[in-house]
Amino acid sequence: MTSTSYFSPEVRTWTVSEAPFHPGKQYHTETITTIGNGYMGLRGSFEEGYPNEIVSTLIHGVYNQAPEEIVPDLVNLPNPLAIQIMVDGEQFHMQKGSVLGFRRALDLKTALLTRGILWRNSKGSIVQITFERFASLEHEHVLAQRVTVRALWGDPEIEIAAAIDADRLSAGANHWQVLEKGHDGTASIHCTGTTNQSNYQIAVAATVQCDHGELVYEPLDNLTPALRAKFSLKQDQGASLVKLTAIHSNRDTADPLVAAKNTLNTASKIGYDELYNGHQAEWAKYWYDSDIEIDGDEIAQRALRFCLYHVLIAAPRHDDRVSIGAKTLSGPGYKGHVFWDTELFMLPPLTLTQPKIAKNLLMYRYHNLQGARNKAQEAGYEGAMFPWESTDTGEETTPRWTSPYPDTPRIRIWTGDNEQHISTDIAYATLQYWHWSGDEDFFVNCGAEIVLDTAVFWGSRVEYNRTLDRYELSQQIGPDEYHENVDNSAFTNSMVRWHLRQALQLVDWLKQTHPQKAEALLARLKIDAARLELWQRVIDKMYIPRDPQTGLYEQFDGFFKLHKVDLTHWTPKVHNMDAIMGHEPTQEMGFIKQADIVMLMALLGEDAGTLEQRQRNWDYYYPLCDHGSSLSPSTHAWVAARLGLDDEAYYMFMYAANIDLEDLKGNVRDGIHAAASGGLWEAAVWGFAGLTLDGDNYKFDPNLPKHWKSMKFRFWHKGKQHTVTLTAE
Ligand code: BGC
Repeated sequence: MTSTSYFSPEVRTWTVSEAPFHPGKQYHTETITTIGNGYMGLRGSFEEGYPNEIVSTLIHGVYNQAPEEIVPDLVNLPNPLAIQIMVDGEQFHMQKGSVLGFRRALDLKTALLTRGILWRNSKGSIVQITFERFASLEHEHVLAQRVTVRALWGDPEIEIAAAIDADRLSAGANHWQVLEKGHDGTASIHCTGTTNQSNYQIAVAATVQCDHGELVYEPLDNLTPALRAKFSLKQDQGASLVKLTAIHSNRDTADPLVAAKNTLNTASKIGYDELYNGHQAEWAKYWYDSDIEIDGDEIAQRALRFCLYHVLIAAPRHDDRVSIGAKTLSGPGYKGHVFWDTELFMLPPLTLTQPKIAKNLLMYRYHNLQGARNKAQEAGYEGAMFPWESTDTGEETTPRWTSPYPDTPRIRIWTGDNEQHISTDIAYATLQYWHWSGDEDFFVNCGAEIVLDTAVFWGSRVEYNRTLDRYELSQQIGPDEYHENVDNSAFTNSMVRWHLRQALQLVDWLKQTHPQKAEALLARLKIDAARLELWQRVIDKMYIPRDPQTGLYEQFDGFFKLHKVDLTHWTPKVHNMDAIMGHEPTQEMGFIKQADIVMLMALLGEDAGTLEQRQRNWDYYYPLCDHGSSLSPSTHAWVAARLGLDDEAYYMFMYAANIDLEDLKGNVRDGIHAAASGGLWEAAVWGFAGLTLDGDNYKFDPNLPKHWKSMKFRFWHKGKQHTVTLTAE
């Protein structure tokens, strides 16, 4: 790309860039420039290394619980990006010599990360160095890099060493039982390893081609095999080195090293340029299906693409036993664990634009039903109770304690015990996928079991209050995690009632349309007439804390009496209110962390009340919300757009849009807020476009921001792809 095109609208709305270099924002930039392909994710850290960087190479599914840890982590693999360059014997580094120019750019359209630098060493030689990298979308085990060095001033001696670095794995737990380096002459280098608890084996292997000099094998370190080329350049001459890396684990093959070498063989024959062409062609297909085009708002346009990019690079294309963690594959946050974020925030854009991938993610839950059954059984319930945090085993992996601040007492984490609404969120996403995709095969053979066995759990979990002749749920955590172990969360109780209604309808439908399958499944899940009657009773008598006249929900028993704080004056605020006020005092306060009743209104729409009633709930709950969770703004934008609250809708949309791009929460270093990313699509499509199902059909009720001239997107409905262009009135 020439510098004159940097500022064209086309480039601006497809690019995340940094120029000049901002060392203070290094963690943030590393995260937002992560590349990936649904198999691997690599942060945008520099090839030559930088102080305090977080280098991370993650692949889905490879978790390990290190001896000193209480829960498993997604394991950081040896770093395949490492490349060192010497100019006249001086190591190129951005803290040495003089950086005369710098631009790092992630092209969202092609998922290509580039960095250009003009660098002068102490001897006065000036070189232009260009780095490129992409994780092939066509060949998901392949990472491709190219570095070009051009002599701009002087005739420098150049050395380039391309390495795999297993010596400086990021700080944190030690996950490796064995980690070894090796090489195959000068044909390839590799690192292999086995995790110390889960026994996953991985291989990272690389091959190098350089159009100048001879390659020699010369390890940089104990665990850093490298291939090095030395040559001299005349002024105005350039040289290129291509490094192709293959990553495999024993999750995808019996012998990862053999597979990695085979992959390298194939990739080398294809060559960098053709690999890139194939990769780009796959991305063109991705964007054809998933892009949302906004005319009239470049900032919203770029943010939508940025957010969709991050969901797409994390979405497993060929593996239905893994899911997307709350921080994708872009950093260490939440240890790579999977939450409800996937089902309620990331799945909708995939269900409508990439249904095959959406199915993979639901199959992950299906394959892990046993973990959910174990959790229910251990707690004394029936059916399947999905873990709040999930990894490769499907068992509950939420830590029980945390010490967020050094000098304060540790805090018990209750979400793993009591944030039980996740079982219904998963059922919701399963039904949503079925209704939009019409994928009956999946639904009858797998999806129905998810919806029904989680309903079995709820039937055993609800509590009958004899005195008041009603069903209740005590000790819950709703979406608003500031308030723990509450009784009768309006969100949870309402969603459970909804869930059981769906389950009853599903049983009828199954019996009518697939009688044999119905019989076998109902027998296996022990769903008999008595259980169905119980579900009906619970539906009829579930207590929902809500004023029947006004329709105002009480978020949980006693919420109205909590001490209210006028949040309008608590600005500018970076920290969450619970961090400011303290964990225990927060229990007595009436501010909330994220969309809770608002989330209920988003999910149930008109079933959560008339327009007037929903407006009343909005008026009550919107001012109480601190958006302490990145999941909150997009849901607020969605609901505000439906209520016709245009200013609030756009404000909340832009808040969600910039959470990662502008590091609004100050913690992007830990990884992308993937739910906020998926949520932005929801705000646009469910919110502004007003797309909903209408029986067997779909309908729109657009309410676009007034300055948007149009919004165009595609979606799948029952096996057919539709394109729609909506215009502002
Ligand atoms: C939010 C949860 C979310 C989790 C992971 C928490 O701060 O409150 O709703 O699932 O982060 O993103």
